[in-house]
Order: sequence, then structure tokens, then C-alpha cells
Amino acid sequence: MIDVTKIRKDFPILKREVNGKPLVYLDNAATSQTPQQVIDVIVDYYQNYNANIHRGVHALSQEATDKYEVARQTIQKHFNAKESYEIIFTSGTTHSINIVANGFTTLLEKGDEILVSAMEHHSNIVPWQMLAERTGAVLKVIPMNLDGELRMDVYDDLLSNKTKLVFCNHISNALGTINPIKEIIDKAHAVGAAVLIDGAQAAPHIKADMQKLDVDFYTASAHKICGPTGVGMLYGKEEWLNKLPPYQGGGEMIAEVTFEKTTYADLPHKFEAGTPNICGGIAFGAALDYMNSIGFEAIAEYEHELLEYATKELLKIEGLKIYGTAKNKTSVISFNIEGLHPYDIGSILDKLGVAVRTGHHCAQPIMDFYKIPGTVRASFSFYNTMDEVDVLVAAVIRAKGMLE
Ligand SMILES: Cc1ncc(COP(=O)(O)O)c(C=O)c1O
Repeated sequence: MIDVTKIRKDFPILKREVNGKPLVYLDNAATSQTPQQVIDVIVDYYQNYNANIHRGVHALSQEATDKYEVARQTIQKHFNAKESYEIIFTSGTTHSINIVANGFTTLLEKGDEILVSAMEHHSNIVPWQMLAERTGAVLKVIPMNLDGELRMDVYDDLLSNKTKLVFCNHISNALGTINPIKEIIDKAHAVGAAVLIDGAQAAPHIKADMQKLDVDFYTASAHKICGPTGVGMLYGKEEWLNKLPPYQGGGEMIAEVTFEKTTYADLPHKFEAGTPNICGGIAFGAALDYMNSIGFEAIAEYEHELLEYATKELLKIEGLKIYGTAKNKTSVISFNIEGLHPYDIGSILDKLGVAVRTGHHCAQPIMDFYKIPGTVRASFSFYNTMDEVDVLVAAVIRAKGMLE
């Protein structure tokens, strides 16, 4: 069970006011807040052992290197990767996806097919479109139904021996749908295709097991899991990471450099050119430790209660429509009120201290599918309360009254 009163004390920001009202932070799908335990790790780094890693013989450098590599092992353990070098530190999911999309440039041929789901974030669309342009591969879309669930029957039809890659999010940021990724992975493997799962939205809610999923690539961003911005990870199966060429050249990623020829470092360094976000990587590990100390089962259970209660209460508002009504969904509610622009609702909610996101949520194809300009999105975390759901609902009713 979650002790939300106790947990909230870990998050200093939750005590603040916005526009003279207590902050109700419901923009967790965009970025989560940071507990004191993680803030302390960041401060400790800069106060006590700030140094560049992997190349110094001095004590500070060795300390920073050790902590950075321990963080990698924490991430490995959390995601149950077979080897720690299958975890590549990146600046976030966007960077992780670009590493893979760039790498496949040499592995695809004209006419090869790559499949994308209809409910992707732009960062899991655009890099693949760029890959298709470079290689002549064909991008095909797995459609969804009105509830925001993937049409797995069409997926079956789209798969063929031409399919080389499938990429899909684990959870949709705009709709909250939890996709059947195990089935997606197994079916892709049956035709010999590799699979990348964008785990940016799943990582805060679900502990994904790389070996059980048998996924080829999986991504996450620390800032959505109580960690800092500008750091994330790419998990890749060893054999795939060895096949892909490096994404960036520079220091740290080489074995030997001469003007005639350069050889590359082993995994994971081959993909980690330049000085990384050292403090961020260490704090990423601390953020996972924090979330595991609460427990992902307890988190999922509590967030589901928040989702059910908020859904029930919001639907009592006349003219309110929820987009994303999949059977299997997480604590994200995208909605509109008939005749009102989401931006106007969001602006009034902000005046009332309620932070939500409005717009297309970097998922314009989803908005086009529903023929809407955008939605208001309230996304809940384990530190939100039922009382905050009540504040949200009252604020939406007030906004509706003011705008109508
Ligand atoms: C599903 C999904 N994929 C990718 C991203 C991009 O993550 P980042 O901006 O951390 O690279 C996001 C961010 O909102 C997301 O929700």
C-alpha cells in the first residue's frame, strides 16, 4: 500500500503555491517531480566528487566513475538486462531512438518495410521517417480503433518477410493505452524483424523485464521516473548493439585513433561519445532506487485507483469526452469539453493552481485521427491524491462555467 502523505513529504516542490493556490501537479507524463533523496544525490555529486569519468587516475575521478557504473548496474538490474554493457546512457528517449534509427541506415535496403504504431510520440516517428528517406525503406502504420487500442488483426496482415523493424510505445503518452508489447515482439520475431519499444511512458508505471520480453531495443528517460532531465537509457541486445555502427564520433567511444583509421571501443562506450551527463546518470540510478523502495506493484495499484476515480468524476461533467478508453490503460486522462478549446481550459486550470498539459502532446497523428486540435491531459503519479482529483474536477467545472 502507498502511504501518500508520507511520500509527499519527499517532494519539496509539492509544497509550493501557484497563483496563490496550492500546486496540483498533474503533468507527470511530461515530466515527473524529483524527491529530496534524488536532489541530495545531485548536490552530493557537485559538492563532493565532481570530476570527469573513465580517464582520471585521481580519487575524485575514480569515485565519480564508480558511482556512474554502479548506476548503470542499477538500471541493468531494474530492467533485467542480461549484461550491464547492454545499457547505454543517453540524453533521453529521443536520443536513444535516434541511435537505433541512425544505426539501421546500413542494415536496410530499398523496399524493406518498417512498421510504426498509429499512436506514437513524434520522437518515435520522425527518426524512422528520416531513416526511410535515407534508405528507401517503406514506413507502414499499424492503425488503432476509437478506444485507442492497436488493431492487432491489421498488424498480423502487415507483417511479412519484408518487415525488418517494428517500433511502438509501451504506453501512449497522449491516450494512456498500455500496448500488448509481448505479442507485438513475438509476432515481429516470427518474421525475423527487430523491435524497438519506446518505454518513456511505461517506465514510471511498469517494471519492464528485457529478458522476459525478449525485446531488441527499449528506451527510457530519467525525468519521467523522478530523475533529472537530460539523461536516459537505451537498452539493446548485445548482438544488435554490436551490429549497429556508432551514432556520434568523439572521445570515449574509441579504442585507437590514427589519421589513417580509428577503431571503436567495446560496448557500452561505443555509443557514449564525449563527456556524458555524469551527475544525471548517477541520479538516474538513485531515482530508480527511490521508486523501487516504494514498489512498482503498489505504484500501479494506487495509480489505477486514481485513474478510476478521476475518470468517473470527470465523466459526470456534461459535454466532457475522454480520448483513450482502452481496457488496459494507465493513469493518463486526455479530454475535451464540447465547444471549448483545450488551451483555454488549461489556462484557467493554471490560474487555479492545477498544472495539466494542453495541445497535441507531440502526437499529432492521434489528434488527426480524432479530428481534434488537441486535448487537455491530466496525468497522475503515485504522489497525487484523491483530494487533488477533486480539485481538478472542481476546476474543470469552474473553467467550463467561465468559458461557456
Ligand atoms: C511516449 C514518449 N516517447 C518519447 C518521448 C520523448 O522523451 P524525451 O523528451 O525524454 O526524449 C516522450 C516524452 O514525452 C514520450 O511520452
